[in-house]
Amino acid sequence: MKKKSATLQLSKEEMKAYGYQVVDAIVEHFDTQDQKLPVAIGTRKEMDSLFLEEAPENPMEAQDVLDFVLKKVVTKSTIVSHPKAFSFVPGPSNYVSVMADTLATGFNIFSGGWAASPAAAALEIITMNWLLKIYSFPVVKGGGIFTSGGSMANLTAIVTARRIKCGDDFSKAIIYLSDQAHSSNIKAIRILGFRKEQIRVIPTNLEFKFSINKLKNAIAKDRLEGLHPFCVVGTAGTTNTGTVDPLSEIALICKKENIWFHVDGAYGGAAILSRDGKKMLKGIEKADSLTVDPHKWFYQPYEMGCLLVRNSAHLKGTFTATPEYLKDVEGNKSEINFYDHGVQLTRRFRALKFYMSIKTFGLKEFRNAITYNIKLAEQLEDYLRKSPSWEVISPATLAVINFRYHPIGEKLSDKKLDEINQYISEKIIASQKALLVTTILHGQIVLRMCLINPRTTLNDIKDTLAIGLEVMKNKNPF
Ligand SMILES: Cc1ncc(COP(=O)(O)O)c(C=O)c1O
Repeated sequence: MKKKSATLQLSKEEMKAYGYQVVDAIVEHFDTQDQKLPVAIGTRKEMDSLFLEEAPENPMEAQDVLDFVLKKVVTKSTIVSHPKAFSFVPGPSNYVSVMADTLATGFNIFSGGWAASPAAAALEIITMNWLLKIYSFPVVKGGGIFTSGGSMANLTAIVTARRIKCGDDFSKAIIYLSDQAHSSNIKAIRILGFRKEQIRVIPTNLEFKFSINKLKNAIAKDRLEGLHPFCVVGTAGTTNTGTVDPLSEIALICKKENIWFHVDGAYGGAAILSRDGKKMLKGIEKADSLTVDPHKWFYQPYEMGCLLVRNSAHLKGTFTATPEYLKDVEGNKSEINFYDHGVQLTRRFRALKFYMSIKTFGLKEFRNAITYNIKLAEQLEDYLRKSPSWEVISPATLAVINFRYHPIGEKLSDKKLDEINQYISEKIIASQKALLVTTILHGQIVLRMCLINPRTTLNDIKDTLAIGLEVMKNKNPF
């Protein structure tokens, strides 16, 4: 390909040829990904041997660069949207949103202020209103912002909570979260400069739920010591077990104590679209702020998180900064400049993928997919309970289940069981046929499956468990 010099441009024909190849590659991936091996493995040395080079001073053929990337880069990445990607929180994604992201990037739409793109701001307001309604938050007074992910949404929430409840002096401020809260909350608290003594990590009960009694005790003690309890972070769907904290009870405490209630629903929040999930998430509507994470269980591609707030003035009051170079574009009250509602000034147009995929599929299809995911985990629980080889450790909850290999009749110490289950996970991953890692619950090493891919079937799971059983049968080192 011949490139025009100094304008970083390709000719129209070159752009088309290049673009069609990219679309073809993505479509081929969507069409064949389920048959591929999901797990990518590569050492730093291997990656260096493929990619390490100085930034080239001279141009290469665009076609050669593209071919290299399609052959070597995308193939060396774990397929998080694969039906056998069970670990962490998978990213099932959807094609319509992928194309929406491509459009947003292609047109390079600035989604910071109203003036630069009234349509982008309006779509963010409209999709945010859809979410406010779904979560029964006040639609007129409430608001929110799309972020890069759940971590950024939690950070945005905690800084807002601090601004509203503490103003400028947060030297005595105390924040409460459970030992099952996601690490991004602790990270956010650290970023905000809180000292270790300002954080209360409250132990969960046997079911991994926030202990209300311990929370009440901690708040009361802190008040006696003249400290300032300002925020409780509850979780709607913990990463480890899918557990939902007692949201209504925490909300009540927070109301009585004038404490900000943030709910981290990054993992489980989307379950509100299913009938059973909605029941489990009761109380979520009482939060002052709520993180949901569309790039998880709302099936959006990375990166898309979201923070909803009961009162949008709280975001504005926290993040507005009006430098002289933005004074001409401030707009009026109804025309939101999202740079005033969060950390980023320049922002990509995230709302577009949410808008286009929900319009294309309808909420109904999302509801059906989420309901299927929850039921699949319940079917798996049933299957595991009836099997002589596996033991359920934490029951199916919002599409997450924890279990371990523990054959009946075999007397194995907890230490041995830990080693065996770690070994099974390592062997499954080494086979590259499924991504299944362990976690630790009550000190035990267990296998954890997160089943939010609507294309995953019970047979996909049985195939994966069969690898584990085969490993133990053939070459049992224990
Ligand atoms: C409960 C919870 N909160 C927050 C996060 C962080 O979200 P992200 O990875 O989108 O930053 C996660 C990620 O798994 C999560 O499960």
